[in-house]
Amino acid sequence: MKRGKGLTFVGDSRIQKYEKPKLNRDYSEFPGRTEEFWPDFLLKEWITGAVFLIGFLCLTVAHPAPLERIADPTDTGYIPLPDWYFLFLYQILKYTYASGPFNILGAIIMPGIAFTALLLAPWLDGVKERHWKKRPVATGLMLVSIAIIFYTTWESVAYHDWDQQHQQGQITFSNLDADDPVFNELIRTNCTSCHGGELAGGSGPDLIAPELAPEAVEAFVTNGSGDMPAFEGQLTEDEISQIAEFVAGLEEVSADEATNTESAE
Ligand code: HEC
Repeated sequence: MKRGKGLTFVGDSRIQKYEKPKLNRDYSEFPGRTEEFWPDFLLKEWITGAVFLIGFLCLTVAHPAPLERIADPTDTGYIPLPDWYFLFLYQILKYTYASGPFNILGAIIMPGIAFTALLLAPWLDGVKERHWKKRPVATGLMLVSIAIIFYTTWESVAYHDWDQQHQQGQITFSNLDADDPVFNELIRTNCTSCHGGELAGGSGPDLIAPELAPEAVEAFVTNGSGDMPAFEGQLTEDEISQIAEFVAGLEEVSADEATNTESAE
């Protein structure tokens, strides 16, 4: 079969073969505009790298990562907070038209459009100018984005309930025995969703620190109170008194004596 529309390719001995490999021109031909990779360039890279590394080390020593108790999927009262660089997205989700029934709009469509536009920017933007002053549309969009990100980040920090945040992640040491069948079969299914995975508080109050009498717990569980539902009818009297006994026996202990060691590990 013939290829190339009927042309026949032949070797032509008159075309010179390259004798030398094509090398880049020597850096010494551009005095003042280039530098030697070794050691000049590498030294600068290393110095920059070392400055950042030491800076980060100092930062982690000065501000250790806040340690919270072990995550517990049954603790639905826990409100997770993203790291600072995602706070603006988190804040956007609190606005009326980005939350509740509009969640998909706020969580997927809006950030989706923004990030897709960023990806497609080289094709969307045909302007040949490079100076920012000569690119008003791109510069304007960028300034607006930065303003929005700054404002929403500030707003989420200013209006967040930091006390509650601190409280919900606190590590509490108690004598709670997570292997106790009363805890596993009755409390985990009925109480931890509000009172926290280790009963140290969630959307409902801490049950460890206050010294509760079994009768008081029984009354709360049987009749409910405020936002707490009554369990009368859902749990038998015997189950309620077992729960009451267990909860009344809880107390805070020192880290060494703790039996809720899940969070101490
Ligand atoms: C729907 C969430 C919810 C559930 C589930 C729930 N509670 Fe509560 N609980 C609360 C709230 C909210 C309060 C505070 C009520 C108030 O102040 O009137 C509370 C209060 C209490 C108190 C009183 C604490 C104090 O210091 O005054 C006890 C004891 C208690 N709950 C035990 C339990 C037990 C045991 C269970 C599981 C059988 C349980 N709760 C399930 C939300 C809940």
